[in-house]
Amino acid sequence: MDFSEKELLEKEKKYCSYGDTVHYLEPPKFFKSCEGSYLYDREDVPFLDLQMWYSAASFGYKNERLNTALKNQIDQLPQLACQYLHSEKVELAEKIAKSVERIFGMKGRVHFNVGGAQAVEDSLKLVRQHTKKNLVFAFMGGYHGRTLGASAITSSYRYRRRFGHFSDRAQFVPYPYCYRCPYGKKYPDCKMYCVKQFEKLFETEYNGVLDTKVNESEYGAFYVESIQGTGGYVIPPAEYFPMLKEILDRHKILLVDDEIQMGFHRAGKLWGLANFGVKPDIMVFGKALTNGLNPLSGIWAREELINPKVFPAGSTHSTFSSNTLGTAVGLEVMKLCEEMDYEKVVVAKGKQFVAGLKKLMKKFPKVIGDVSGMGMAIRMEIVKPDGYAPDREFADHMFAEGMKGDLLGPGGKKMGLVLDVGGYYKNVFTIAPAFDITPKDMDLAMDLFEQLIKRCVKKYR
Ligand SMILES: Cc1ncc(COP(=O)(O)O)c(C=O)c1O
Repeated sequence: MDFSEKELLEKEKKYCSYGDTVHYLEPPKFFKSCEGSYLYDREDVPFLDLQMWYSAASFGYKNERLNTALKNQIDQLPQLACQYLHSEKVELAEKIAKSVERIFGMKGRVHFNVGGAQAVEDSLKLVRQHTKKNLVFAFMGGYHGRTLGASAITSSYRYRRRFGHFSDRAQFVPYPYCYRCPYGKKYPDCKMYCVKQFEKLFETEYNGVLDTKVNESEYGAFYVESIQGTGGYVIPPAEYFPMLKEILDRHKILLVDDEIQMGFHRAGKLWGLANFGVKPDIMVFGKALTNGLNPLSGIWAREELINPKVFPAGSTHSTFSSNTLGTAVGLEVMKLCEEMDYEKVVVAKGKQFVAGLKKLMKKFPKVIGDVSGMGMAIRMEIVKPDGYAPDREFADHMFAEGMKGDLLGPGGKKMGLVLDVGGYYKNVFTIAPAFDITPKDMDLAMDLFEQLIKRCVKKYR
């Protein structure tokens, strides 16, 4: 039965938990279909999507090749208990492990799970097992998921406040967010003051992180996103990670690289951290691995940390881990990445997109304070008329107006714009277009942004 939107909303009000993020927007929005860079609502109004499911659908909605891989697997081996093997799982693990060999020059193994946070949990097990430490460092502004373990290493206290005591809460370290430097410095005059502050922690045992007599840290790992995702697509200066890694190595602290949002070419290279010339000890991935089709996530770890002697059968498990549908799509995604030069495409399109946004920033300096990007991980900070103070309300208005679906598209047709607001102050558009977005749609995106800004200035300022 085809229920009206009003009827569905009434049912949703009665039967659905509000604990997810649906009610960030009131009233919540329904969509009916999708294709390429577009979502279509129940009236068939097209919405240009510039966030692609927080980068989970980077290869475009209804990607024919990936959908076909899924359909074929449905016909061939749609389900199988994860205690048995199927070829796609093994082939996918090989492709990921070999990609790490090629890019970072290290041998290791892959372990699959279902969602990003679950893979983060698995990585925490590896860290604890190898280092015998429960405590880790993580970044202010970092996001690693909402399970209890992942929440403990995610910076925002809002995600923990109502859920008891987190005894293994990470020690949060300032991230090099240069546009709003946590130390009030200016890059490059700062001479990487932030890394030096971190280094100072290890100077004396009385700073609380290291027994200097035996060089043993109380902290087993540092969890990083090479470019912060939810934190607002913040890009660190080139020398940051090499300097950080040198300090971690000195004190035998593992580097865990969360590639859940930046992995699979979002920031140009297959793995985001490869942009910065350092090697991870453990890597966590998910999201675009299946282009948002059947969920699959995983970890890669150095052989020393995950070989069968130290991580034997049954060390971790979930019913749906390494599911046949997810691994089939994941394998196709990896093949696609091998065949297409995504690094080149993503870097070129990212540059074009950023150039367009910079033009807008020149036109609206009292609305847009900063624009930058790496690959197609693009950020735009919305600011107050002083040109710098974060303007969360204005960003929210732009987001909500975009979702109304009444902007003017080509030929005067009604259109919407799908955006995602992130950042420490919730004033940053984290822009993650589909990799195959056309130049025409990039121009259209600029036009829609301009319409949104003009409308919101008129209505709300
Ligand atoms: C960097 C990062 N880590 C972890 C997660 C959690 O993944 P999931 O939502 O699949 O549990 C996310 C999700 O947004 C993420 O962006």
